[in-house]
Amino acid sequence: MNPHTYSRFISFEGLDFSGKTTQIHRLIIQLARHGISAEMLREPGGTPISEAIRKMLLDNRNSEMTRRSETLLFSSARAQLVEQVLVPRLEGGETIIADRYVDSTTAYQGYGRQMDGHFIRQLNAFATGGLMPFRTFFLDVSVDESLRRRRSAGRGTDRMEGTDIAFMHRVRDGFHEIAAANPGRFLIVNAERPEEKIAAEIWGEVSRIWQIG
Ligand code: TYD
Repeated sequence: MNPHTYSRFISFEGLDFSGKTTQIHRLIIQLARHGISAEMLREPGGTPISEAIRKMLLDNRNSEMTRRSETLLFSSARAQLVEQVLVPRLEGGETIIADRYVDSTTAYQGYGRQMDGHFIRQLNAFATGGLMPFRTFFLDVSVDESLRRRRSAGRGTDRMEGTDIAFMHRVRDGFHEIAAANPGRFLIVNAERPEEKIAAEIWGEVSRIWQIG
């Protein structure tokens, strides 16, 4: 596989309820206004095999799942997505926006579940063949804000969202450490501001890197 960084591949990361999906949809609409068609791929998911793994990972009945098993399943779903969808589409010149990618495994399984960081880095490289996003937008909300939004969403929680507050703090701190270690790739976006402000900041960066408008 080609360990190339395609400029038309970007990712979004953040805690649950950081507003990633909303912002990705806004970005896709904005890109369409400029004649660029972009596709969102959500992780885990995006292929039939990866979606089946997603169900397994998020199912509350799977409370006995070990952290090793969980880590390998997230990586397995990603490996399938990369080879079956991501690489062929990027090779074909398409624009792809990933709703989570390897940084989620580093933050959630590495920092959150406290799995060995060196192993997680190797696993991420194995699962992706080294394919990394050109730019990663980390939508940053506090743990309190994520919890507030979860409460007001009023829906049940999945297995990953059922984790405790200390876990969420480790994940958020983890994202900050990853961002600090990759300053060229990461943009930390304060995601506690009004939706339009966040969208404008993201658009500013996307239009700059892709020289749109
Ligand atoms: P996501 O699809 O963002 O959640 P939702 O669609 O419910 O908003 O992500 C699913 C959950 O999986 C989320 O809690 C983060 C977690 N996750 C990991 O722990 N590791 C990973 O590698 C990925 C991609 C997600």
